[in-house]
Amino acid sequence: MMRVLIVGGGAREHALAWRLSKDSEVEVIGAPGNAGIAAIGQTVPVDPSDAEQVVALAKQESADLVVVGPEAPLVAGVVDALRDQGIDAFGPSREAAQLEGSKIFSKEFMARHAIPTAGFAVFDDPDAATRYIEEASRPLVVKADGLAAGKGVIVASNAAEAIAGVDRIMRERAFGGAGDRVLIEECLVGEEVSYHVVSDGKRFIPLAPAQDHKRAFDGDRGPNTGGMGAYSPPPVVTADIERKILDRVVEPTLRGMAFEGRPFRGALFVGLMIVDGEPLVLEYNTRFGDPECQTLMTRWKGSVLPLIQGSAQGDFRGLAPEWEAPASLCVVLAAGGYPGSYEKGTPIHGLDAASALPQVTVFHAGTALHDDAVVTSGGRVLSVTAIGESIDEAAKRAYEAVEKIDFEGKQFRRDIGWRARSG
Ligand code: AMP
Ligand code: GLY
Repeated sequence: MMRVLIVGGGAREHALAWRLSKDSEVEVIGAPGNAGIAAIGQTVPVDPSDAEQVVALAKQESADLVVVGPEAPLVAGVVDALRDQGIDAFGPSREAAQLEGSKIFSKEFMARHAIPTAGFAVFDDPDAATRYIEEASRPLVVKADGLAAGKGVIVASNAAEAIAGVDRIMRERAFGGAGDRVLIEECLVGEEVSYHVVSDGKRFIPLAPAQDHKRAFDGDRGPNTGGMGAYSPPPVVTADIERKILDRVVEPTLRGMAFEGRPFRGALFVGLMIVDGEPLVLEYNTRFGDPECQTLMTRWKGSVLPLIQGSAQGDFRGLAPEWEAPASLCVVLAAGGYPGSYEKGTPIHGLDAASALPQVTVFHAGTALHDDAVVTSGGRVLSVTAIGESIDEAAKRAYEAVEKIDFEGKQFRRDIGWRARSG
């Protein structure tokens, strides 16, 4: 029996824990986990970004492997601290996690390695950034350099909005030190795609394309969120586009990272805009996407342990991935008010009835146990995921399950996968 510590407490971590414990001799420990992870393993309350706490827990629990889910612990060096103690860890080193941790590092890296991306300029002075915006009479995107929980990006529809973005990031310091510098990019128009590969530092294994729905409301309207749903595979990624993503983006990225002395191990998730059939990089994420991971883990055939462990140990040894399901779709159930303020502690009903439906898996995110009852404890509460022969079939099953689950304020999008659905 292997003991695997899973760092994080979202639906992504539940999906990883579920897949790992389903098909392998694996016992999972959630750090801190959630009510879903607690149903398949043990959970321990720790701060995921506190390397000392995570290392101490891994030792105390005699973990054979630690899987780090979210970006903040990666950027904080949790994987380095574990490896220093001889503990196998899945995820990039702190240096390699800079691909996500600094948007400016990632853009300059792309420029050095001729990886296709939007044109950009970097500023450490708000006045200079403002002058640049005033002189450029075209749509721009303003981004805080560092991690800002997905909130540090302003896709501006005019100069005033872009300048307000600079003010918020650099003068009001809404994201603290993450806003010491800003990146100003050309605005790209096209269809967004999430592409995941897993690398062992030498080779990589492509997973499958997926598409996320970031806006809060139907019709891709409303504020940006962490992701309200996802599906895999999206039809926009033809075999030709997938080839271009691998040859022009993934391969040079991993080669470039190794060349610069930051070999990348772990999951690399490239956010791309497909513009007239050409993939351009929007951003790198140095971990699995959430909710993309839920669609990939439900499509995956058999044990995911060789992939995760091979990457952590720096050697895949002839692994070839297989897909069980042609399609998967995930609908996120959020608390009313999300991504703004929302209630916590609301009882959730119907989880068993939803999970009993064929080909449906309900992953937990912001949930907790209160006197043996499952209650809400976060903005994104559940990831209702179904597989099928087609996106239509997966969507029908996922939405049937969504109807069975009830909690006060339940908020979700009815149009997840709309680009791939027939009606
Ligand atoms: P990022 O965190 O850098 O991926 O940005 C968050 C979101 O902003 C992306 O998922 C896109 O929807 C949007 N975005 C970022 N950069 C651009 C760009 N250059 N052009 C258009 N939209 C963008
Ligand atoms: N779903 C987008 C992300 O995980 O960043």
